[in-house]
Amino acid sequence: MNEIYEKLTKCLAVVRAKTSLHPKVAIVLGSGLGGYADEIDIETTVSYSEIDGFPQSTVPGHSGRLVFGYVKGVPVVIMQGRVHYYEGYDVNNVVLPIRLMGLLGAESLLLTNAVGAINKTFSAGDFMLIRDQIMYNVPSPLIGENIEGLGTRFPDMSEIYNKTLCEKIRSSADILGIRLHEGVYVQVSGPNFETPAEISAFRALGADVVGMSTACEAIAANHMGMKVCGISCVSNLAAGISPTPLTHDEVQEMADKAAPQFKKLVTESIVRIDG
Ligand code: HPA
Repeated sequence: MNEIYEKLTKCLAVVRAKTSLHPKVAIVLGSGLGGYADEIDIETTVSYSEIDGFPQSTVPGHSGRLVFGYVKGVPVVIMQGRVHYYEGYDVNNVVLPIRLMGLLGAESLLLTNAVGAINKTFSAGDFMLIRDQIMYNVPSPLIGENIEGLGTRFPDMSEIYNKTLCEKIRSSADILGIRLHEGVYVQVSGPNFETPAEISAFRALGADVVGMSTACEAIAANHMGMKVCGISCVSNLAAGISPTPLTHDEVQEMADKAAPQFKKLVTESIVRIDG
């Protein structure tokens, strides 16, 4: 058996022994949103450290556990804390939790993150529906022997963010009176923030926001047939637009500030994704 698939199957057995809940929606919580998982109707939690071979999150603001439970009656699995490529994991390990949530039965995946704004009309604290993405300097998680049990060798990515789910997020924002931009997310490797020249280049490429996660997760989920959607929270203006040097503290502070609104949008979106 393919080495990655074997590891995935072992992780699945460990988690299945701890819960029989079948999630419909999988959610990844980005910077600042971590507290959301504590507010849902929790059934079981499984620490990443309890799952042999599971990558461990090393970033401040990202705790590491899978939370199983219900959001307004919708069965969900939540990644409370994600792992990033810049932590030194190869990209196969970075997306292992996403694949695991897919194998647990989740049909849809809601990705959230904190981002820097490249689009000059965006402000810190704004939200953006991710309509499409660019990977810059990050390898595809599908490199290597294809795992036929998950998906095809050359998967189509022309609707990587599912249009029906995007519409559900739009209507959620609308009903809550939350302003929602739309645009393109570019994933960089990090951990350094970008240079102003890189940000200008990404703008020319058509990107609206920049972050260090998400795009590789969306590819892995799409490969295995999950429906994917994503919401970004603008934590800062990107390099060259921001008047001050960028810090992780600034990202966390702004993401924390926006969290109450973000949580409302996530809850409403989950209910509609299930509907
Ligand atoms: N760049 C990259 N990743 C980020 C940023 C940024 O400005 N803000 C939050 N995540």
